[in-house]
Amino acid sequence: MHRRYNRAKPNATKPPNATAKQDDPAVTASNRIVLSSDHAAIPLRQAVAKHVAAQGWVVVDIGPVTPESIPYPKHGEAAARLVASGDCRLGIILCGTGQGIMMAANKVKGIRCGVCSDTFSARMIREHNDANMLSLGARVVGEGLALEIVDAFLGATFEGGRHATRVEMITALEGSR
Ligand code: RB5
Repeated sequence: MHRRYNRAKPNATKPPNATAKQDDPAVTASNRIVLSSDHAAIPLRQAVAKHVAAQGWVVVDIGPVTPESIPYPKHGEAAARLVASGDCRLGIILCGTGQGIMMAANKVKGIRCGVCSDTFSARMIREHNDANMLSLGARVVGEGLALEIVDAFLGATFEGGRHATRVEMITALEGSR
């Protein structure tokens, strides 16, 4: 089940087309961000969803919404496939530590996902590693820090140059076994 959050006034970390009409499919693809978690991170995921929607992102929240135990690989893969396909520009995934769901997401071709518990790392995985997904541990970081980490991630831009060569080397490893 996909839950869409209403958009509010964009701020400094808005996506490039945040002022576009939400029902324009040609534009909203680049504004779309997928959120997913396992049962251990539902409240934090929902807080992140509201936070990024208020910045102008179109949030595709693929759940879960009920607290029954659910395996994190299932939701990590589902979110990753929406990013890898281009349906969503970026993704934020969460589990208890952020580690398991990150590992699952990184198995999907085209995904570069890092777990972050600090804002510096969140900025750097965008600037140097061109990460297209962020993972958070709901049992590791509190909501306040988590939202700052999200802002650092969304506010950063890939620097390219020598970093592009290194990211290409990561990509070349895909399917190498
Ligand atoms: C669930 O108990 C827990 O294992 C999961 O949320 C995550 O921390 C795994 O990496």
